[in-house]
Amino acid sequence: MARKASGTIGILTAGGDCPGLNAVIRGVAKAAMHHGIKVIGIHDGFRGLVENRYMPVDNPLVSGILAQGGTFLGSSRDKPHKMPMGGKVLDMTEVAVANYHKLNLDCLVCLGGNGTQKNALKLLQKGGINVLTLPKTIDNDVAETDITFGFDSAMSIATEAIDRLHTTATSHHRIIVCEIMGHSAGWLCLGAGIAGGADVILIPELPYNMEVVANSLLRRQRSGKRFSIIAAAEGILSVQEAQEQRSAKGKKRKLQDEIAHTIKSGGEEGDIHLVQEPVASRLARRLQQLTGVEARVTSLGHVQRGGPPTGFDRLLCTRLGTKAGELLAQHHYNVMVGVKGTLCVPVPLAKAAATKRIVPLDHPWLGTARLVGTCLGDIEV
Ligand code: F6P
Repeated sequence: MARKASGTIGILTAGGDCPGLNAVIRGVAKAAMHHGIKVIGIHDGFRGLVENRYMPVDNPLVSGILAQGGTFLGSSRDKPHKMPMGGKVLDMTEVAVANYHKLNLDCLVCLGGNGTQKNALKLLQKGGINVLTLPKTIDNDVAETDITFGFDSAMSIATEAIDRLHTTATSHHRIIVCEIMGHSAGWLCLGAGIAGGADVILIPELPYNMEVVANSLLRRQRSGKRFSIIAAAEGILSVQEAQEQRSAKGKKRKLQDEIAHTIKSGGEEGDIHLVQEPVASRLARRLQQLTGVEARVTSLGHVQRGGPPTGFDRLLCTRLGTKAGELLAQHHYNVMVGVKGTLCVPVPLAKAAATKRIVPLDHPWLGTARLVGTCLGDIEV
């Protein structure tokens, strides 16, 4: 027999934070409360659900947070089915589900990226609870949505960084390699690279050839341009590295395997850059050797995830959040709220969780970059 609706929902933020999380919490909470639904905020992502840490969310609490970066609920990368607990990694799904029922929730609203979509789907499939998700990440790589919230804010920070690097690179006649986040997707680097007018843009989807990059820098020199800016995504691979990865038949790169041994704490793949020399440093060192031009490196890192959301993201977050509130009022659960054209719409969660949305090689942004003479590292320009 179906359980009677309690009129209460839980909300959590999981995975890496980004600008706009507070704006979405506000949108969901205000719209839900408008429909008479009570809201409970769960601390630190799925860990808070397992550890039963939560707080009531009311109107005064979500007032004045629209423009605040981060998430006032806290976040973590913990997964219910693989959670480090007291020195062990345990499947805590049953505990998470039991706490959901203890709180008498009708639905758990999960704000997060790819990992969160998968974890929410697992709770739905294995635990039989209602979930509703929203696509958050600066990486812009969640499937079934045209855009994720947080991406525009991070892109504007990275663009401003490239602008600033331009002036100093010009003064010192240097090559500056700017490393941009995005995990294994190139959206952030490609978007900021085009918006900032980078001379070379390297993304994970398009393996680069070092000679091609060096030649494009030398050609700039010969034409009288005495500086160059390279926007390099953190996940880039050379043509050779990409071949090695492919020939490893789906296994992660050797280096990633080594790191997986080192990090036994249940860390995500994103942890890799903590112990690996940033790709930008390797790139800069080699390009300095090949071109004879002095090179420097700037890794933007978590600066891209901090601070207030842009106006675009505030609007997007409010639209997504209030759409979620509307769906909750209709008991329309087990979907992700995605952006399709001008609309925020429910999309199948199973499809959103199934894959990552990386830059397709026929994407118009790549054509745009090539037409303004940007080297993408694959062919001579
Ligand atoms: O997924 C968002 C992201 O910022 C990626 O771009 C990056 O690879 C990763 O998170 C960094 O993770 P962490 O904050 O855990 O170091």
